[in-house]
Amino acid sequence: MITRRKFLNAMLGVGTAGWLGSVVYPVLRYLLPPETTEAEPDTLSLGPAEQFPRGAGKIFKFGKRPVLLIRTKDGAFHALAATCTHLDCLVQYRDDMDAVWCACHGGKYDLAGRNIAGPPPKPLAQFAVKVVDGNLVLGGALT
Ligand code: FES
Repeated sequence: MITRRKFLNAMLGVGTAGWLGSVVYPVLRYLLPPETTEAEPDTLSLGPAEQFPRGAGKIFKFGKRPVLLIRTKDGAFHALAATCTHLDCLVQYRDDMDAVWCACHGGKYDLAGRNIAGPPPKPLAQFAVKVVDGNLVLGGALT
């Protein structure tokens, strides 16, 4: 025979467990991000190479990573990770310096991605870039 006290304790326990679940579950969902199944692309076609101006740089999204595509005045293409190795600011190509520059703390990289001035501790990753049938194709990371 169940007593009134046992019945009330059981109901109180069920209510408390429900309340805890309604608080803890959303907190855990917020703290533990869902797994992403987005595949990283092997290549990215960027369109006709001749449309890309000389002496300029442009940032593209390659999978989850921003990549800085540079075309120098002599027409050569370079592709580097666009995230500074110091504190993750986006870098930019500076034609006047013929270098990649980070505006956050004045970090400077050469066109091969080597850190040459300022606080960046490591070089930028290089990506393969080539012209296939007149189209610019960005490939995977080289470094
Ligand atoms: S974040 Fe680029 S130099 Fe500091």
